[in-house]
Amino acid sequence: MDELDYNTCNATFRSLTDQQRLMVEETSRLIGADADLELTSYGCGFGMFELELIARVPRRTVWFQGLDTNGEAVERLRATLAELPKVRGHRVLTASMADVADLRITPTEYGLFVQSLCYLGADEGMAVLKEARNRHRRLIVAVPPLNRLNGPFAESLARQGIVRPLFARTLAEELTRFGVEFRSATVGAEITVPVSEPAHRLLEFLTFARHQPWRGGTGRAELLDAVAGLGTVSAGCVRIPHPVEVFSIG
Ligand SMILES: C[S@@+](CC[C@H](N)C(=O)[O-])C[C@H]1O[C@@H](n2cnc3c(N)ncnc32)[C@H](O)[C@@H]1O
Repeated sequence: MDELDYNTCNATFRSLTDQQRLMVEETSRLIGADADLELTSYGCGFGMFELELIARVPRRTVWFQGLDTNGEAVERLRATLAELPKVRGHRVLTASMADVADLRITPTEYGLFVQSLCYLGADEGMAVLKEARNRHRRLIVAVPPLNRLNGPFAESLARQGIVRPLFARTLAEELTRFGVEFRSATVGAEITVPVSEPAHRLLEFLTFARHQPWRGGTGRAELLDAVAGLGTVSAGCVRIPHPVEVFSIG
């Protein structure tokens, strides 16, 4: 699957799940209403979540700081933020979360890790979180539970030598082990796939063929069966649980 296919499928995938909308609602609720917001997002990508949060959070203006290892995503996010009247300033760095002690990172009220901390193993991830707690009054971390949907992602992390990635249960265990107080809420999102419509490539995407070399021969019926196996079929749709756990620390 090339990058164009990936981006097209990812956009379609995002349109079939209510996860981002529900995560934005939960995060906005945690942040609450006030005049101005200062926010840092670790692993911001090109800001798919962050841009929706900025638009919806009940604050007059936002000062946004972000970092990601993907330089192209960083450039794209910078360009988008520059156009937004609600954003009174921004700084987006090509850097790793592991560089959280980097002095270019300014302390802000909120530190956000949305679907990014699970890229790190427990030891490194907890070191990052501890340092981030020195920089921010409150941290909000959204990570999925380890389930069949993200199993192949976990396998690819294992192949990269990442030990005990911080999916939801491991994160809760680690926070408890280190005596860090937190609250968490499960965002019960789901993916709704109309059985009649999906393109072949989208089905592959959903079954995470994108993590493997393109095999070409997988039949549509076989893919539909695999997708149906991830959820329940009703009224011409497959409904696949797509939960995420939102942790609030501090
Ligand atoms: C699933 S995306 C989430 C992007 C964004 N937060 C959102 O929800 O739209 C995960 C992001 O984490 C980034 N990432 C992974 N490991 C990272 C690291 N060590 N430091 C910084 N960013 C990292 C990836 O490049 C990717 O952009």
